[in-house]
Amino acid sequence: MRVIITGDHAGMTLRNEVKAVLEELGYEYEDTGADCTCSVDYPDYALPAAKRVASGEFDRGIFICGTGIGMSISANKVKGIRCALVQDVYSAKMSRLHNDANVLAMGERVIGPGLAREIVYTWLTTEFEGDRHKRRIDKIAKYEEEQADE
Ligand code: RB5
Repeated sequence: MRVIITGDHAGMTLRNEVKAVLEELGYEYEDTGADCTCSVDYPDYALPAAKRVASGEFDRGIFICGTGIGMSISANKVKGIRCALVQDVYSAKMSRLHNDANVLAMGERVIGPGLAREIVYTWLTTEFEGDRHKRRIDKIAKYEEEQADE
């Protein structure tokens, strides 16, 4: 699995926790996040990274900012992205089982490193259930297609 990680200045520390999990799992990753604590703008990181997931260059994305909110709002503007803002392990699991989330957003100022590691591990290792959940996701994809045609 190929994973793109990104984040703004408020997500710098948690990105290292994410990378540790990816290394344990043996997954390939690229980190395009801010590399200084100077103030930057989260859409400048979320949008290009989300496009690289939507294009198929990466299988998944993990995006981190202070709350995860800016990252998730931005990522979900990109056609084909299903970004879940997650703060607990149950939601991490369900976002994969039922929503086939292809981007995970987390907030470094919201959750601690231990919880973040569990969320990332669960999210990366849980498969989509398909069936009725695919029907629902297909409806979102159809809506995106219709918007693109307008
Ligand atoms: C940066 O201060 C902060 O606003 C940002 O990281 C994020 O939490 C926005 O949603």
